[in-house]
Amino acid sequence: MLAPMAELSHRALRELIERFIPRRTPGETGPEYYSEMISAPALLSGGPFETWYLDGGPCPGRLVYQLLGAHDSSLAAAAALLDRRDCLGIDVNMGCAAPAITRTGAGVRLMNDIDKAGRIIAALRRVTKKRLSAKLRLGPSPDRQRPYSADPGTKAPGDGFEYLLKFCRRLESQGADLIILHPRFAGEKLKRRARWNYVEALRKELSIPIAGNGDIDGPGVMEERARKGPVMIGRLAVKEPWIFGRIHDRPLQRDRNFLEETALVFLDLLTLYQPPEFHLSRARRFFRYYCDNFTWAEYVRNKINREETLEGMGRVIREYCKRIPEEKAL
Ligand SMILES: Cc1cc2nc3c(=O)[nH]c(=O)nc-3n(C[C@H](O)[C@H](O)[C@H](O)COP(=O)(O)O)c2cc1C
Repeated sequence: MLAPMAELSHRALRELIERFIPRRTPGETGPEYYSEMISAPALLSGGPFETWYLDGGPCPGRLVYQLLGAHDSSLAAAAALLDRRDCLGIDVNMGCAAPAITRTGAGVRLMNDIDKAGRIIAALRRVTKKRLSAKLRLGPSPDRQRPYSADPGTKAPGDGFEYLLKFCRRLESQGADLIILHPRFAGEKLKRRARWNYVEALRKELSIPIAGNGDIDGPGVMEERARKGPVMIGRLAVKEPWIFGRIHDRPLQRDRNFLEETALVFLDLLTLYQPPEFHLSRARRFFRYYCDNFTWAEYVRNKINREETLEGMGRVIREYCKRIPEEKAL
């Protein structure tokens, strides 16, 4: 699954990823796509950019909309709107730790209150039969969760696990079909390693599927993790939009212009599928990760960030690849 990522998990990225999925034969599908988070109150009040957020192309049947909100009433009303659309499922963001979000009571703040989180899932369950999931972290903090912990020491998956389990059992009992666990506590930055032992421990306890997410940073790790259960991939899928092609076990055709062409195609897709107001911020976000493919990553990224148009960014890529012609993907 592609992770929900603000300013990244939009139609242009999905279109790019789909280009690397080999032509389908019966039974062969592509990845599931989570949308970037969509604010429930903004959706209900008809914000100016909502049509762009709701664009489920190119394969709505594999798209899950992620909702962000703090209250069961607005989240359920937004889910009822989404339920009428062609999509695979609806997800509730219970993991975003950005202060601007948690201050409103949304994101990982919902993990502070098991009753409230359960009420939210129950309210959504009443309005949709689509696949209902929640994307979580491990919880507020190991200290806060210690009273619930069966193992207050450091033994894996010790601190906070019992609280997490109680939380997830509530979501399951209220009708969640799937849980996605990004195994970091609320205050932990992406630098701290994700604790996959919690994912494995949770899988043993619940009957609904648990997808794991975090730090899948190459094809080898992806394949290893995917052997044990469903996985969700974030930043790697931006750096290597061709990564999902690998699950089909077929080699990718890469010529020497592969990296350059992929970047230029993405800029074209942005123009096609995102409003002009979003072009620069979305392109910069994308290149923040994509540039890691280049030997002189920081150099290209800085040059791209100084550009004020997509054309200018395309020029930077073309000039760089002309000067360093041996650049290839992996
Ligand atoms: C730029 C960016 C934006 C993100 N936006 C969201 C979001 O909208 N909703 C969400 O649940 N998680 C969001 N996340 C978290 C990712 O979905 C994922 O949990 C995290 O990046 C760890 O996975 P990874 O190591 O595969 O990148 C975001 C992460 C990044 C880097």
